[in-house]
Amino acid sequence: MLFVCLGNICRSPLAEAIFLHKVKDKKFDHWFEVDSCGTSNYHIGDPPDSRTIANARKNGVNMNHLGRQLCENDLDHFDFILAMDQSNHRNILRLSNARDHQQKISLMRMYDPHGKNEEVPDPYYGGEQHFQEVFDILDRTMDNFLSHLEEHYKLKAKA
Ligand code: 4NP
Repeated sequence: MLFVCLGNICRSPLAEAIFLHKVKDKKFDHWFEVDSCGTSNYHIGDPPDSRTIANARKNGVNMNHLGRQLCENDLDHFDFILAMDQSNHRNILRLSNARDHQQKISLMRMYDPHGKNEEVPDPYYGGEQHFQEVFDILDRTMDNFLSHLEEHYKLKAKA
């Protein structure tokens, strides 16, 4: 499971943290390798944005990630590659020519029950309400995504 945004300090590390939080809660974590990255090289080695960390903590989610850039190997390695917006989606597709890659690359919000195929808005230049909006979008989208995975792959909780 690879979540992708531009900087890898706001949206995608939060998506990673929320997904991990939920799969740990359900004892599904042994099924997944979860990571995130950015299409840009702006924040390689950086911890997530302090506003994202604070907002996640307020919502009961801890973050543990350092920024890294998407590389070609990621396209082979991960089964699901979820882009936060159209521009990142295009840039991931551009890195990939193989057909089997294309099928596993999608927009994160195709799993949002409230707004299919919309973008997860970039909160970087916004205020606290923008960070909370991103949290709310990812929280409900991840619930729906996880239901889809449970149904489709018949996931079983760890004993
Ligand atoms: P992210 O947000 O893609 O959600 O991590 C951004 C973080 C940094 C920048 C842009 C977006 N930046 O331009 O540095």
